[in-house]
Amino acid sequence: MRHLMTPLDLSVEELDKLLDLGNDIEKHPEKYAHACAGKKLATLFYEPSTRTRLSFEAAMMNLGGNVLGFSSAASSSAAKGESVSDTIRMISCYADICAMRHPKEGAPMVASRVSSIPVINAGDGGHQHPTQTLTDLLTIRSLKGRLDNLVIGLCGDLKFGRTVHSLIKALARYEGISFVLISPEELRIPEYIREDVLDAQGIPYKEVEHIEDVMPDLDILYMTRVQRERFFNEEDYIRLKDFYVLDKKKMELAKEDMLVLHPLPRVNEISVEVDNDPRAAYFRQVQYGVYVRMALILTLLGIEV
Ligand code: NCD
Repeated sequence: MRHLMTPLDLSVEELDKLLDLGNDIEKHPEKYAHACAGKKLATLFYEPSTRTRLSFEAAMMNLGGNVLGFSSAASSSAAKGESVSDTIRMISCYADICAMRHPKEGAPMVASRVSSIPVINAGDGGHQHPTQTLTDLLTIRSLKGRLDNLVIGLCGDLKFGRTVHSLIKALARYEGISFVLISPEELRIPEYIREDVLDAQGIPYKEVEHIEDVMPDLDILYMTRVQRERFFNEEDYIRLKDFYVLDKKKMELAKEDMLVLHPLPRVNEISVEVDNDPRAAYFRQVQYGVYVRMALILTLLGIEV
């Protein structure tokens, strides 16, 4: 049985296969409409979510399966003090596969150790968010035609942004990738990514504070929200929250075929005036998130169509 805790739980070959499946689902959705008939997905969300939870549920419904779950810790037995391990033992009796989001780093991993059904990490604290990464990879590969030889700019809250951590780990495995890490000093990428991934694998990267200086170099600009809920005090959040605002003027500095991605939700970091720019790919990204989660559910359940 397989779980998905980080994007590296899939080899590059498996990942390619999964993305191919995502593209096939996009082209021929009807082929997959009953693939999960009789199967159930449980969504265990101990932290707020719109896209991740609903896209998982939509994905399972598109496959002809059913969904059950909870969308806040307060409405589950966690509020009575039940452990994640006990909860997952129970869920294994109700569902065939589950997606878990938790504010504590490592909680889905703890669950996977006692689970008799596949567990998908749907975001654990400031750590990892592998299914957002699958979404990002499918978006980039579909719209750019490749995952290698790209200059990737990651901008915003690189410290607490789990989507960034997972994306760097995944992209670092492709040829000719370099990163431009754009953040204020306080929100720089954590050491375990800088040293254990980038330095350890000899991946070229630079860290800068000003987005304008690097705009012309980028093939992808991955914007992120400042992660308010992970800050220790509100003052720091208020000081940093509008550090970057991508607007039309900054977009003029970018390549004509650069793509802007964002895991969403957006707060202020992308001005709405950018939404109509053909390079703005963040709403298309949402749609790829459904296809790739469909592909993931099929893969982890071992269902071939
Ligand atoms: C992200 C997350 O939860 O980490 N959202 C998402 O799943 N699309 C990004 C964020 O909350 O900023």
